[in-house]
Amino acid sequence: MADPTMVQDRMQAKKEVRRIKNLPTVPGIVAKISRIVENPETSVNDVGRLISQDQVLSAKVLRMANSAFFGMSRKISSISQALVILGFEVVKGLVLTSSVFDMIQKSMAGLWEHSIGCAAASGVIASYLGRDDAEEVLVAGLLHDLGKVVLALNLPEEMKLVRDKVERENLYFYEAENLLLDFNHAEIGEWLAEHWNLPESLAEPMRLHHKPEKAVLKPEWTSIVHVADVIIRAKGFGNGGDAMVPSVSPAAWEILGLKKTDFLPILELLEPKLNSLKDLTALN
Ligand SMILES: [Fe+2]
Ligand SMILES: [Fe+2]
Repeated sequence: MADPTMVQDRMQAKKEVRRIKNLPTVPGIVAKISRIVENPETSVNDVGRLISQDQVLSAKVLRMANSAFFGMSRKISSISQALVILGFEVVKGLVLTSSVFDMIQKSMAGLWEHSIGCAAASGVIASYLGRDDAEEVLVAGLLHDLGKVVLALNLPEEMKLVRDKVERENLYFYEAENLLLDFNHAEIGEWLAEHWNLPESLAEPMRLHHKPEKAVLKPEWTSIVHVADVIIRAKGFGNGGDAMVPSVSPAAWEILGLKKTDFLPILELLEPKLNSLKDLTALN
């Protein structure tokens, strides 16, 4: 059983982050979408119309929908079409990501590239495994490190301490966080997911992508994002906060039924995607 004092300390840390630094608010458009879909009378067209009102946002979402992520054979030219083809949850994930794009860009050099790389790798692994939810898993990959954005923007001093320690002692980013802060970006990600009312299926990979063996709700999604994170670090695509490449957790191999020999074909599928994702590196 967990030590009650520790549980209390962590609750306190969670409260502190929330109270003192205020988590970023959910982008207005995402909050609105969540509200209108609760109405059973809402149609795909209503949601499409709402997103389309914001032209900059719609353009970003369409660019992502037409990017190498999804490898569509025909162009998606409207938000309504994206909703029909990719599904509501995926479009919502793209809206969320596009609305926090500037925030991600400002937070840490290379984190956006790390995030889209991890998204692409998550999608590729899911398709390689023959899953029919590759698009949703991709969104989980896109959001997995959002906790680092909060750390960089809301707790800049703590972030600097972490980054210095990573560099000085050659540690993993989350190791340095755990040593210095008593909480890490994965936990912050979970609080953010809760604060933004994201589904638990996305919150779990945010919380457990460094410990996939603990996942209970979507162990496959969490393991895929975990493996994708390792692969994208090994490829040196973007910057996840440290220059280390962890090994894949034995539990993730087992949960996904992957073998080391699967790596090469996965990398071969990923390579062309990463090359064509370059146009998303500046999503203006
Ligand atoms: Fe992470
Ligand atoms: Fe990561």
